[in-house]
Amino acid sequence: MILGSNFFVLWFLNLLGNRNNIKRYSGFSIGKTFKHYICPKFLIMELIKQYVEQHKQRLLDELFELLRLPSVSADPKYKQDILKTADFVAQKLLEAGAEHVEVCQTAGNPIVYGEKITDASKPTVLVYGHYDVQPADPLELWKTPPFEPTVRDGKIYARGACDDKGQFYMHVKAFELMMQTGTLPCNIKFMIEGEEEVGSSNLSIFVKQHKTRLKADVVLISDTSMISMENPSLETGLRGLSYLEVEVTGPNRDLHSGVYGGAVANPATILAKMIASLHDENNHITIPGFYNKVVELTDAERKALNNAPYNEDEYKKDLDVNELWGEKGYSTFERTGTRPTLEVNGIWGGYIGEGAKTVLPSKAQAKISMRLVPDQTSEEITQLFTAHFEKIAPASVKVKVTPHHGGEPVVTPTDSIAYRAAQKAITESFGKEPIPTRGGGSIPIVALFEAELGIKTVLMGFGLDSDALHSPNEKYDIFNYYKGIETIPLFHKYFAELSE
Ligand code: BES
Ligand code: MN
Ligand code: MN
Repeated sequence: MILGSNFFVLWFLNLLGNRNNIKRYSGFSIGKTFKHYICPKFLIMELIKQYVEQHKQRLLDELFELLRLPSVSADPKYKQDILKTADFVAQKLLEAGAEHVEVCQTAGNPIVYGEKITDASKPTVLVYGHYDVQPADPLELWKTPPFEPTVRDGKIYARGACDDKGQFYMHVKAFELMMQTGTLPCNIKFMIEGEEEVGSSNLSIFVKQHKTRLKADVVLISDTSMISMENPSLETGLRGLSYLEVEVTGPNRDLHSGVYGGAVANPATILAKMIASLHDENNHITIPGFYNKVVELTDAERKALNNAPYNEDEYKKDLDVNELWGEKGYSTFERTGTRPTLEVNGIWGGYIGEGAKTVLPSKAQAKISMRLVPDQTSEEITQLFTAHFEKIAPASVKVKVTPHHGGEPVVTPTDSIAYRAAQKAITESFGKEPIPTRGGGSIPIVALFEAELGIKTVLMGFGLDSDALHSPNEKYDIFNYYKGIETIPLFHKYFAELSE
C-alpha cells in the first residue's frame, strides 16, 4: 500500500474529517464528497477493517448475548424468550441508528422492523433475517450447552450461531459501522422475523399488509451457505418445500403380536413398504407426475455448477459415510441444488420404550418432506403425493395424509445490479470472485417477496453447509462473522454506485 502504515491512513482520514467539519465518531470520519467520489478502494476497506478491529470484542459480546436467548419458535414454552429476543433486536437496531423501530405484533411471534431513509432518490435495500431458531434437541449430543455460546478452535458453538442469528446480526453491525463512519450510501430497511423455522405464516400476512412500508429495490439475505472461505460463493436459488405427515392405521387397538400376528396387517410394516416404494432402483421418485414441471438445466448450466470445487472424499469423511446416495445421472451439487427430493424426517409407531414389548401396533406414522425445484409448486406436489399415497395403500389399512407447510422454489437473477454488487463486494473482501451455486435449503418467504412486493433477492450467505444447522453443535466461525461485517458495507457501496 502506497500510504504505508494504518496509522498514517487513519491520520489522513481524520484530517479529511476535520476539514469537512463532519461530526466525528470513533476517532475518525470522512467527508461525503471524498468518500463517494475520490476515496480510493483501499481506504474504504481500511476504514471498515479499522472499525471492526477497534470494536472486535464488543461485536462478539453482543452476538453472544443474542445467542444466550433461547428463541425456539417450534415450542410454545419459549414464548417469553421469543419476546425478549425481539426486544433485544429492536434495541440493537435503535442503538445502531435505525428509525421507526417497531416490534410488530402478529398472531404469532413479532416481527422487528427498523429503517434509515437518508435520501428518497437513493436505492433502498431491505434486509431480511430471522431471530428464531430450531429446537436444540437432542441435548445430550451437544458438547457445550446450546444456549451458552462457547468458542472452540475459533468457532462459536451455539444454537442459531449460523442459522440465522450470527448471520443477520452481521447486518445490524455493518449498519452501525456505516452510520458511525458516515458511509451509509443507500436507504436501508430491516425486517427480522421470528417464525422462519416454522413456516413464516404470519410474515406472509405482514408483507401483504405493509407493501408500501416494505418498498425496496432489493432484498438482501444472509441465511445461506458458501462453499468454503477459500471458495466464496453466492447461492442463486433455493428449493421449495412440501411438508406433510402420514398416518397408517391397522386394527382399532394395539394387539398381542403372538395372538394376532400373522393374521392382521402390521401398519409399521405396511408404512415401511409404502415409503420404500416412493423411490425406484435409480432413486427417482415414483409419484406419477412428480417430475412433470421440473425445469432441466441446460448443459452449460450443469457444467458451470459442476465446475465448483468439490471433494467427494472430504464430503464423505465429514459425514462418516462410506458411499453417497442419490438420483442416478446427477452429481452431488445437482442433486442438492437442482433436483427435487423426498425425505423421511421421522418415523414411529408401536413400542419404542425400554426393553421389549410384544405388540402389533394399531398405528404407524411418518413426517415426510419433499424439496422442490422450479417450476414445481408445493400445492400441486402435496396433491400428487396425497393421491398416490392413498392409492398405494393396501385394503388392510387406512391412511391419512395431513399437510404441514410449504414454500415455493426460487431462482435469483445473476444479471442484476444487486447481484453484481454482491459479486464485487465478495471479490474485494475475499480476494476471489464468488462462484454461483444453488442452495438445497428453503427460505419460503423469498418467493413471496417476489410475488407480493415484486422485489428480487440476493442471497449473500456466509455460513458453511458443515456448520451443523438444525443439528447438535451448530457453529459459526468468528472469521466468517467479521468477514460478513466487512463485506456488507461494500455491497451497499457498490449497489448505490451501480444504481446511479
Ligand atoms: N437458513 C435455512 C435455509 C438454508 C440453509 C438455505 C442453508 C440454504 C442453505 C432456513 O432457516 C431453514 O432452515 N429453512 C427451512 C424451511 C422452513 C420452512 C422450516 C428448511 O430449509 O428446512
Ligand atoms: Mn435460516
Ligand atoms: Mn433453519
